[in-house]
Amino acid sequence: MWVRCVVASVVAVVVGCSLLPLDVERLQASVGGFAVLNCHLDFPFGNEIPYHLQWDKDGETIFSWYSSDSAPRLADRWGGRVTRLGDGRLGLGRGSINVSAVRETDAGLYRCRVTFPNRTPPARNNGTFYFLDVDGSNLIVTPPMNSTVLEGERAEFECMPKNLETIVQWYKDGTPIGAIPELATRAELVENGSLVIRRAESTDPGEYECHVQDTDGQVQSASAFLDVQYKAKVVYAPKERYLLHGRPASLDCHFSANPPLTNLRWEKDGFLFDPYNVQGVFYSRNGSLLFNVVIIIML
Ligand SMILES: *[C@@H]1O[C@H](CO)[C@@H](O)[C@H](O)[C@H]1NC(C)=O
Ligand SMILES: *[C@@H]1O[C@H](CO)[C@@H](O)[C@H](O)[C@H]1NC(C)=O
Ligand SMILES: *[C@@H]1O[C@H](CO)[C@@H](O)[C@H](O)[C@H]1NC(C)=O
Ligand SMILES: *[C@@H]1O[C@H](CO)[C@@H](O)[C@H](O)[C@H]1NC(C)=O
Ligand SMILES: *[C@@H]1O[C@H](CO)[C@@H](O)[C@H](O)[C@H]1NC(C)=O
Repeated sequence: MWVRCVVASVVAVVVGCSLLPLDVERLQASVGGFAVLNCHLDFPFGNEIPYHLQWDKDGETIFSWYSSDSAPRLADRWGGRVTRLGDGRLGLGRGSINVSAVRETDAGLYRCRVTFPNRTPPARNNGTFYFLDVDGSNLIVTPPMNSTVLEGERAEFECMPKNLETIVQWYKDGTPIGAIPELATRAELVENGSLVIRRAESTDPGEYECHVQDTDGQVQSASAFLDVQYKAKVVYAPKERYLLHGRPASLDCHFSANPPLTNLRWEKDGFLFDPYNVQGVFYSRNGSLLFNVVIIIML
């Protein structure tokens, strides 16, 4: 008898007015940090109806979401950095957003606007305003942001120093990149401070941190995470297994996949083997086949 396990996963390609209002709250963030901007949906008479949630920065739309949409639309520079905090936790309104990997250029006037397309008048107010101040004494202008790439693809983490003369150093999970030969041969530190990994491998995920040191010895750091996705693969499959007659047994399938497996099948003598049709044989959660009792003639 010849049994083989075949794994598969779907690899998702992650991919794309000048009047200062009177009522504006000031918020403070530092480069590489985050800012939480609160906004309540505030439905008429408290009943949830179709709505449109929009966030602008200095008049430019950065986030737009219709309640019938599955995902929000984000302006270019903001993709991956703006997440909606829509679950109402922490006492925040369901229109709130979290801006992460804050850059100096994020400073400015933000407005949250909720409108009701099926209602007249469509808006209840002019919106909620915030002025975000970004600490200007930074050494880093553009910090790195989380990134997901496919195995074999190029990955880049930005870390643009304010003064291009300053030294930028990169660490992975606390270790200097240069001390990880397997990674260092594929990595490159670019003049603009970026760390470029030419062909990402499944061993590369982790936290990447840049340290920028100015001439006075002052240091600033910022970090982000890399995720590398790859097709599921069987990492170890014993060619032959001897199972004891009359005893329970399991056949293991050792696999590795990111994102996690969506589909795993066993083949027996070249044909799909479906344990649901065979008494005493079960799938375990980890993909192994479990036999209550091994008998000589199976199936
Ligand atoms: C906002 O995002 C940052 C960075 O991912 C995270 O550390 C922080 O907890 C988030 N804040 C909230 C309120 O979700
Ligand atoms: C909304 O803005 C207009 C002009 O921009 C102003 O006249 C009006 O008072 C504002 N309404 C509220 C509720 O702030
Ligand atoms: C970045 O990734 C880390 C680890 O996966 C996660 O905790 C953090 O929330 C992510 N930040 C953003 C802005 O997605
Ligand atoms: C940094 O330089 C590299 C190599 O020249 C380039 O590919 C990358 O786009 C640059 N990054 C930024 C943020 O300018
Ligand atoms: C899978 O789970 C079974 C029990 O449910 C266990 O016997 C077996 O060792 C596990 N296999 C792997 C590869 O973790």
